Amino acid sequence: MVCLGNICRSPLAEGILQSKVNDSVKVDSAGTSGFHQGELPDSRSIAVAKKYSIDITNQRSRKFTANDFREFDLIYAMDVSNYRDILSLASTEEDRGRVKMILNESYPNENRNVPDPYYGGDMGFENVYSMLDEACEIIASKL
Ligand code: 4NP
Repeated sequence: MVCLGNICRSPLAEGILQSKVNDSVKVDSAGTSGFHQGELPDSRSIAVAKKYSIDITNQRSRKFTANDFREFDLIYAMDVSNYRDILSLASTEEDRGRVKMILNESYPNENRNVPDPYYGGDMGFENVYSMLDEACEIIASKL
């Protein structure tokens, strides 16, 4: 699960998907930037996850690297900017094929973005939660 800062959207996506699959499925998240390296998720993401009984306080922000193409079968971008940044690190067709826009799970071929809630209010985080929950339900059913 990849967004820009790895403190708002992708930590929620990681927590939600992990809650829907068993521990044999390795779920992780990262940011295309290293701006928030080592930080906890945003307090508003922690709060909305907690509201739905998901604890994301074990997560720390890290930067996405080309090595992630070796570690993970599927890479979900939160928005088209993340998608392009991830693809710029891909070196093979196989790598490129692993990268998906997460909302294409729930809205196929529409290339919808998960809006960045960083500068908005709490409702933005609730909205992001609900979009990610819908998409992760579909991902989990396929896994
Ligand atoms: P995220 O949100 O990509 O969903 O983690 C953001 C968090 C921080 C910044 C941008 C987006 N920032 O510019 O610091």
